[in-house]
Amino acid sequence: MNAPLLDVRPLLDVPPVLDVPPLLDVQGLTLCRGDKRILDGVSMTLGRGETLALVGESGAGKSTIAFALMGLIGAKEATIEGRARFDDVADLVALDEKGWAALRGQRLAMVFQDAGSALNPSYTVGAQLISVLRRKLGLGRNEARTRAVTLLESVGINDAAVRLSAYPHELSGGMQQRVMVAIALACDPDLLFADEPTSALDVTIQAQIVSLILEQTRARGASCIFVLHDLALASQCCDRIMVLYAGQVMEAGDCRTVLDDPRHPYTRLLKSCVLEIGAEILDDPPEGGVPSYDAMPAGCRFATRCPRALPRCAAERPPLAEFDGRALACWNPT
Ligand SMILES: Nc1ncnc2c1ncn2[C@@H]1O[C@H](COP(=O)(O)OP(=O)(O)OP(=O)(O)O)[C@@H](O)[C@H]1O
Ligand code: SF4
Ligand SMILES: [Mg+2]
Repeated sequence: MNAPLLDVRPLLDVPPVLDVPPLLDVQGLTLCRGDKRILDGVSMTLGRGETLALVGESGAGKSTIAFALMGLIGAKEATIEGRARFDDVADLVALDEKGWAALRGQRLAMVFQDAGSALNPSYTVGAQLISVLRRKLGLGRNEARTRAVTLLESVGINDAAVRLSAYPHELSGGMQQRVMVAIALACDPDLLFADEPTSALDVTIQAQIVSLILEQTRARGASCIFVLHDLALASQCCDRIMVLYAGQVMEAGDCRTVLDDPRHPYTRLLKSCVLEIGAEILDDPPEGGVPSYDAMPAGCRFATRCPRALPRCAAERPPLAEFDGRALACWNPT
């Protein structure tokens, strides 16, 4: 694995709470858009205070998982099956819009990939932050303003009281992303999704934003799901990792266990494609491409590219099962 770009391991010293039921328990999450099965039986758990990385090539379904578990995919857009228990909520998949409105922003929140597009250009950052605090926490105008200043300060924005009057376009990309983090954390959510929160930023700012998200979640015992392309970053900032390919979970477990010794041919291929050039990490997709949904194998979706494929692989889906200290879906592990 490559040398760390940033040293965030000390932030992981706060241990996750593992002797109580997980905060999130997803079983068989399947999402179809028309006849395309975008997510195919995704199962995962997340402990309280734990940080999980979702990794995989473009189109693997990482964002779709986050959007589905945030209730941001409407019934007209896709059908969703499976079960997702979240703390005392028996099943997120079964929630109606009223149920989602009570959770989203307060107990579940998201930092989107591109703060520039996620923030509303017509309103000042203060108006957007204060509106969340008033709507979700019922704060009065003055109280919300005071809390907004504190939140902006906590994410490292100087002259926070003055910055409240700034429009998003008046802030740098890094500052916009900090505002997004402040909005996402405004109501102290139990679970934060961070969907490639730094991909639009330069490396130095990336490190600051990732550290900031970790500080702000770990310190409160909150859990975080990072959607990442960068395996090196995942290994530095997450407790656990889940490797996805074409909407199926290939391998999942402790970050060190999985990345130090991947047992799934896809994880191995993904890891081998991370090249180190000086201090820069380049992620190149493994050779070939993800098959189209019309030509997707009925069994293991990686079968068309797998160097270890057996005759049964394309027809028979391997179950996600315990193997060598991690969860693995493969008929012929390395
Ligand atoms: N609105 C949509 N309609 C149809 N297909 C969609 C839609 N949104 C996503 N998809 C498809 O769903 C699959 C999963 O997409 P998703 O955006 O979740 O992948 P991802 O892993 O987040 O990729 P990236 O790393 O590029 O962000 C892709 O094949 C994508 O083309
Ligand atoms: S199940 Fe077969 S095709 Fe899929 S990763 Fe394992 S060996 Fe390769
Ligand atoms: Mg995505």
